[in-house]
Amino acid sequence: MDISLLKFIPIFSELSENDFQKIARASSKQLYRKDNMILIEEEIGSTMFIILNGRVKISRISEDGREVILSILSEGDFFGEMSILDGETRSANVVTLEDSEILVIRREDFLQMLRDFPQIAINLLKELAHRLRRSDSQIKSLSLQNATGKVASTLLRIADDSGKIHLGQVEIPKLPPQQDLANMAGTSRETISRVIKSLSEKGYLKKIGSKLIIMDYETFRSDFS
Ligand code: CMP
Repeated sequence: MDISLLKFIPIFSELSENDFQKIARASSKQLYRKDNMILIEEEIGSTMFIILNGRVKISRISEDGREVILSILSEGDFFGEMSILDGETRSANVVTLEDSEILVIRREDFLQMLRDFPQIAINLLKELAHRLRRSDSQIKSLSLQNATGKVASTLLRIADDSGKIHLGQVEIPKLPPQQDLANMAGTSRETISRVIKSLSEKGYLKKIGSKLIIMDYETFRSDFS
């Protein structure tokens, strides 16, 4: 496998050329087509995954059959580490949102990497701390906020994950479809549409096709989180 692909992956940052060679030997690259279910909740897991390009949706199905989207991951992100680390079954479903090239690493090889390269373990822990903070803010928003707050904090989470900041504005290049936004925010598709329209009329947001711009990120954050 081409090791240049590994250099841009955050959990492999600060490793040497030699380390990349070893990691490449222990991984394989696979292409998953759009809408491919890569992991199924409660199955036994023996591999972890790193996205080289493309996007996946992490979700669970609630008691009443609704899909709850926990996160959308993209290039450079990893998933499948939880079962590898704690030996429990898969905690969520993972489905590709577009054709995606993904690095697959077997459990034993990944655990050996953590022993050989403590920097990977530190990078992994940093990202897990980030995900815990994100989940905490999601719980707060689902339990405390009104519809506008739920939608706004979902947009903030997406902006933090995939937004590009420029002169105080944050551009989300590809906003998920309204039903996915609703499943992330714990609300309905109609509410998503109504709130985005109202926040756009108030000058907080600008929507151009599937691109969304938060016009003044700091103000938006302080007004809605
Ligand atoms: P695992 O439990 O092995 O399989 C499902 C994966 O989804 C899990 O590992 C994590 O990689 C990922 N996952 C579960 N919950 C979240 C979350 N809240 N945010 C991001 N990723 C998650």
